[in-house]
Amino acid sequence: MTKLWGGRFQKSAEQWVDEFGASISFDQQLVMEDLEGSTAHVKMLSACHILSEQEAALILSGLSTLKEKAQAGELEFSVANEDIHLNLEKLLIDEIGPVGGKLHTARSRNDQVATDMHLYLKNRVKEIIEAVAAFQGAIVEQAEAHVDTIVPGYTHLQRAQPISFGHHLLTYFWMLERDKARLSESIKRIDLSPLGAGAMSGTTFPIDRELAASFLGFSGVYENSLDAVSDRDFIVEFLSNASMLMMHMSRFAEEIILWSSEEFRFIELDDTFSTGSSIMPQKKNPDMAELIRGKTGRVYGNLFGLLTTLKGLPLAYNKDMQEDKEGMFDTVETLAGSLPIFEGMVRTMTVRTDSMEKAVHSDFSNATELADYLAAKGMPFREAHDVTGKLVYTCIQRGYFLRDLPLADLQEASSLIEEDIYETLMPATAVKRRNSLGGTGFDQVRKQLGLAKQLLGH
Ligand code: ARG
Repeated sequence: MTKLWGGRFQKSAEQWVDEFGASISFDQQLVMEDLEGSTAHVKMLSACHILSEQEAALILSGLSTLKEKAQAGELEFSVANEDIHLNLEKLLIDEIGPVGGKLHTARSRNDQVATDMHLYLKNRVKEIIEAVAAFQGAIVEQAEAHVDTIVPGYTHLQRAQPISFGHHLLTYFWMLERDKARLSESIKRIDLSPLGAGAMSGTTFPIDRELAASFLGFSGVYENSLDAVSDRDFIVEFLSNASMLMMHMSRFAEEIILWSSEEFRFIELDDTFSTGSSIMPQKKNPDMAELIRGKTGRVYGNLFGLLTTLKGLPLAYNKDMQEDKEGMFDTVETLAGSLPIFEGMVRTMTVRTDSMEKAVHSDFSNATELADYLAAKGMPFREAHDVTGKLVYTCIQRGYFLRDLPLADLQEASSLIEEDIYETLMPATAVKRRNSLGGTGFDQVRKQLGLAKQLLGH
């Protein structure tokens, strides 16, 4: 088979070499974007009188036939035609004859492929933002149901202070809110047209890049033709934003896994989002959460893969850049899969308020309350910390918690302690009184929840 670029060559290609160089196995995912880019290009060429109206009409009808065939899954691509761009050009020529060869006037695959990637990513990022918002919706729903549910809060995975479970869950709302903001902001840089940069230096034809960009719905064009075809920052940025988003999901997944263990018993996942063991009949494994935690590694790999690919590249296009696609597709797919799964998992999980209640009454997470109590009565906080620490030690020796200590023992430690200490040491009191801005106090959490719902438009 003769190549579209075969003129200069004496020997015909060998299939095994073609197979190594081809990207059609994966870049066929860009079929719609490529057709859209070509359609805009032809309309622009016609408007600029580079193609006659008749030529343009013929090519446009050929492109729309290809689009219909693509939608019906009827296009047959070949490795010999290397990539989606040459495959479609060949199919167009087969469809409408030699005039199809005019499509590539004033264009190169270098600006073409970059245009396809910009179009693709712009739409995918918008879909991902919507999926993140849906996930936030499930978080907010659970948070609203559990503002008054108290759990031990942890630092160093050691019980630290009692908190509202709603407060804990809302943390993830804010993390995801930042992810959405980063993704939205990145659209500015994705939403630019490289089309018309040609191979690297522009073109001798009197094209109108802005017109082509407006046909494609881009809000601007690259100012430098070399930059237009060399730039893959927008993909790196996407992979970086995706990595951060996956990192957030992975931390949440880790908590889901811990909470559903027998050791915590804080939640039970719905059967739909759990799996059994092939040998141990009692098992109910949080596989989906583990898988999302695991996939995070692959997304980071995609980010580092592309950064490394680009690291030593001279301007402008180099074939290395063909390696930008699989990691990007894989990351889009991973996010598109993980977000709804996580959303469903959170929406349907059962919160075991009984276990949480038990946990929070049988620990020392109220020790800060005692120290604060003494400090509020004038004792320097450092001293209050020491007095409380010694009382905790006494409790551990005797198998007590702080509220089990008789008043006499407490007063022996400090005469500032009075009967009201028992109320102060109640987990609900501890949470309620943390009413500082952004704190876990129930009123603060309700305020935070209101803001979250407002941001989601709920
Ligand atoms: N398949 C190529 C890629 O994905 C398209 C651009 C090829 N350009 C070239 N000059 N060989 O990067």
